[in-house]
Amino acid sequence: MIIAIDGPSGAGKSTLGKMLAKQLNLLYLDTGAMYRAVGLAVSRANVDLQDDAKIIEIAEKAEIQLLGEPDNLKVLLDGNEVSKEIRTNEISQMASIVSGISEVRKNLVKRQRDLGESAPNGAVLDGRDIGTVVFPNADIKFFLTAKPEARAERRYEEDLEKGRAESFEKTLKEINKRDERDVSREDSPLKIADDAVVIDTSEMNATEVFEKMLEEIKNLQEA
Ligand code: DC
Repeated sequence: MIIAIDGPSGAGKSTLGKMLAKQLNLLYLDTGAMYRAVGLAVSRANVDLQDDAKIIEIAEKAEIQLLGEPDNLKVLLDGNEVSKEIRTNEISQMASIVSGISEVRKNLVKRQRDLGESAPNGAVLDGRDIGTVVFPNADIKFFLTAKPEARAERRYEEDLEKGRAESFEKTLKEINKRDERDVSREDSPLKIADDAVVIDTSEMNATEVFEKMLEEIKNLQEA
């Protein structure tokens, strides 16, 4: 079974993706972490951000591994753990920038398909283009969304917990900037697949969203 979860940042995709993967014994694939790993590799290489050819080369050479259980995921770049480094504001923006380059997308989409297809029971993938591009034939597609303020609030709380918070205003600004770039890029922009189940999570907690998603999956299996 392939479950696609798309939506803007801070809508709850990774929390819900992990919960579903655990419940249904599926592989959880955080595709944003792959773009982040490429963003980190580009940042470390100190390349000119206009130099697409160099960025593509870095993406192609980057060895990216997502290891461990959904609750304790480790992201490795060229054999070294980078789970924390990829979550900074700077790398969020870098990920969003490199994700605008078609060849980078092509490379990562192929890796995502291979990983999803080879998972013994199937996978839950979270990202921006899972239901539209990576797995257009996914068994079920969810599009999670929420008001920018609600999403920024969640991201800010998460950053506070992890000791990397700056200010709520800055978080909101960063989220708006990234949303704008993710929806307006030419290749695979963030958009709602025609057959996606759309859930606005602004006023819902994770358990409520989880139950709604499970119900949709159950309906599908009974159909
Ligand atoms: O989900 P995230 O915030 O970790 O993703 C980081 C960036 O990567 C996001 O701003 C856009 C990009 N991305 C993408 O273009 N396609 C995906 N499937 C996942 C992420």
